[in-house]
Amino acid sequence: MSSQMVSVPASRTINYLRVSITDRCNLRCCYCMPEDGVPVMPHKEILSYEEMLRLIGVFVTAGIRKVRITGGEPLVRKEVVDLLARLHRMPGLEEVTLTTNGVLLNEFAADLKKSGVSRLNISLDSLKRERFAQITRRDRFEEVVAGIQLAERLGFDPIKINVVMMRGVNDDEIGDFFRVAKERPYQVRFIEYMPVGADNSWDPAQFISSKEIYEEISQFGRLEPLTPGLLDGPARCYRVVDGAGQIGFISALSDHFCERCNRLRLTADGQLRTCLFSDAEVSLKTPLRQGRSDEELLALIREAIRNKPEGHGLQRVRPEACMRQMSRIGG
Ligand code: GTP
Ligand code: 5AD
Ligand code: SF4
Repeated sequence: MSSQMVSVPASRTINYLRVSITDRCNLRCCYCMPEDGVPVMPHKEILSYEEMLRLIGVFVTAGIRKVRITGGEPLVRKEVVDLLARLHRMPGLEEVTLTTNGVLLNEFAADLKKSGVSRLNISLDSLKRERFAQITRRDRFEEVVAGIQLAERLGFDPIKINVVMMRGVNDDEIGDFFRVAKERPYQVRFIEYMPVGADNSWDPAQFISSKEIYEEISQFGRLEPLTPGLLDGPARCYRVVDGAGQIGFISALSDHFCERCNRLRLTADGQLRTCLFSDAEVSLKTPLRQGRSDEELLALIREAIRNKPEGHGLQRVRPEACMRQMSRIGG
């Protein structure tokens, strides 16, 4: 197999794979799931770690250099630390990272560190316990905060805190989150609320653009733009002048970052998604379970990359254009 990088089009180098290892979650965030949750995928539909590792090896041949493990909540799947350790040892992979809601971080942080993971993205939409419980429908704020503090003590770097900003819900905490980034060595990222998922209760009135948040932050302190790295995701990042941390903005709706999108997604049930917002999926599980060779899987992956949409056009399409629940895609 050749190991050349696949670029489609010339400006977009596909080097980042997000792998959702489970659709199960221990929270019920209002922007992601209905209160009663969503029906979970049957176990037999979900790829085993062996199957995932084989596919990821083929993705590395196709040019992938960074893998982010997501969920649902990835820490609820058994033996996740072992998977991470094996990925860490996979030749050709330069970065193995994890996005978690932090609920189980206190329990797992030390083992994660030992597995070779050093970078963490953690979701936290409020600094107030009661509000956290309203947004996530679970009273687990203290565990998340303890997990973040432990991750810092153990030396995880970077620690990125994901905040989905919603008008009238948590937008009065912009200043408080800025202060966190000033005082602690975290990258606090404000994420624009996105219309994703069939049951999504997305309300346009709750949308706040990154620009608005940026302007509000300017009242509290100065930000200095940082240059993005080759393997970085869509966040635009700034250093907090005279502070310990950074601020990032993920502007899924207001800024079309599609032209610099470097990623693919593999769902827990073995579907390759080339765009978060496009349900055009290619099954890798079926050919894998039919016993196809690595070369045949590589050809399918390369074909999917060639067909990767050039943009999501979210401003034009209906939210139901993306029928998969966010918890089944992994963000
Ligand atoms: P790093 O840059 O590696 O830290 O990753 P990331 O910011 O992509 O990862 P994370 O899992 O923390 O995702 C943060 C937010 O970005 C989530 O709300 C994701 O849904 C969103 N996001 C990630 N990738 C994409 C993408 O390709 N398109 C859009 N619209 N949003 C994305
Ligand atoms: N809009 C914006 N961000 C979302 N996430 C989940 N659903 C949405 C949505 N509708 C975020 C989570 C987590 C990341 C993986 O995706 O908050 O930080
Ligand atoms: Fe779980 Fe993440 Fe969805 Fe929240 S956003 S319910 S933490 S999968």
